[in-house]
Amino acid sequence: MSSLSGLFSSDMAIDLGTANTLVYVKGRGIVLNEPSVVAFHVKDGRKQVLAVGEDAKLMLGRTPGSIQAIRPMRQGVIADFDVAEEMIKHFIRKVHKRTTFSKPKIIVCVPHGATPVEKRAIRQSVISAGGRKAGLIAEPIAAAIGAGMPITDPTGSMVVDVGGGTTEVAVLSLGDIVYARSVRVGGDSMDEAIINYLRRQQNILIGDATAERIKTTIGSARMPSDGRGQSMLIRGRDLVNGVPREVEITQAQIAEALSDPVQAICEAVMTALETTPPDLAADIVDRGVMLTGGGALLGELDLALRERTGLAVSIADETLNCVALGTGKAMEYEKQLRHVIDYES
Ligand SMILES: Nc1ncnc2c1ncn2[C@@H]1O[C@H](COP(=O)(O)OP(=O)(O)OP(=O)(O)O)[C@@H](O)[C@H]1O
Ligand SMILES: [Mg+2]
Repeated sequence: MSSLSGLFSSDMAIDLGTANTLVYVKGRGIVLNEPSVVAFHVKDGRKQVLAVGEDAKLMLGRTPGSIQAIRPMRQGVIADFDVAEEMIKHFIRKVHKRTTFSKPKIIVCVPHGATPVEKRAIRQSVISAGGRKAGLIAEPIAAAIGAGMPITDPTGSMVVDVGGGTTEVAVLSLGDIVYARSVRVGGDSMDEAIINYLRRQQNILIGDATAERIKTTIGSARMPSDGRGQSMLIRGRDLVNGVPREVEITQAQIAEALSDPVQAICEAVMTALETTPPDLAADIVDRGVMLTGGGALLGELDLALRERTGLAVSIADETLNCVALGTGKAMEYEKQLRHVIDYES
């Protein structure tokens, strides 16, 4: 933090998430947290960046023909490389002080299941965005470090990161991954489940932004005890007569809508437990499971997971920041945690 080199470089750690991108600068902590969205003006077939992050997210689902708002990351991986590179460049420029002498070293976390091609693409984007050296760290390791788990101990720790695109379940011991699996279920699929449910059950069509608002306001992983729970008014298009309509929806309906994604998350945890070597599985039964990522904030997800798996479940502090904090910590303590960062492949 006070080291001289820290003053001259602004080495950074980036959590390039499906929903949100966070940048941690060495010695300063998290300095940027914005939606992973880029908006372009399209003119004569040429794309010109119009907005990135928060401003671009406001345009999603609301663009005229001349503007495109794109989420370059889907299901935890880069779906559109050019756009992702634009976004990384924009964010790096935004936080990198031009007064510093050297190009920064940049560490990016990638999903455990990222392919060599995807890893190479991320490295290239970082280098072409002005990085001197690009290191990668596996997302579950970063999440576990960020949640303060004792990952270097010879005991099993289980972390479940419920992000926008994927849920990654991992068992760690001695600073490395013993088991990790990623399922394509997360915040986005919860939003989709809400949209589909309301279309089928209420004949009403809502957009992604409304679905996300419903989820974060009254979303629940369990049926409310009174069979109804809270309610809220939402607006969408009536699919019968095509006009806008306002309806009241209940927490019970949304819990029903979310039952499939919640079940998929629980099953991923059960599979991990069944596949983990017995002594490590016994450690996890003792110590419980740590939930990280924005999806961990879904109402009563911890209780649903506890009910269905029998494990104790905790939610990390600053769950939306865990991966960025863990990636940052791996960078700050690189000497001790050198083996978790990959500069090669
Ligand atoms: N209170 C809440 N209840 C339910 N979901 C929430 C809540 N707050 C945020 N989310 C969801 O969390 C998701 C974003 O989480 P996060 O930032 O961890 O994802 P990400 O890291 O971008 O994605 P990934 O790790 O899959 O690449 C979004 O889908 C968002 O809707
Ligand atoms: Mg994430």
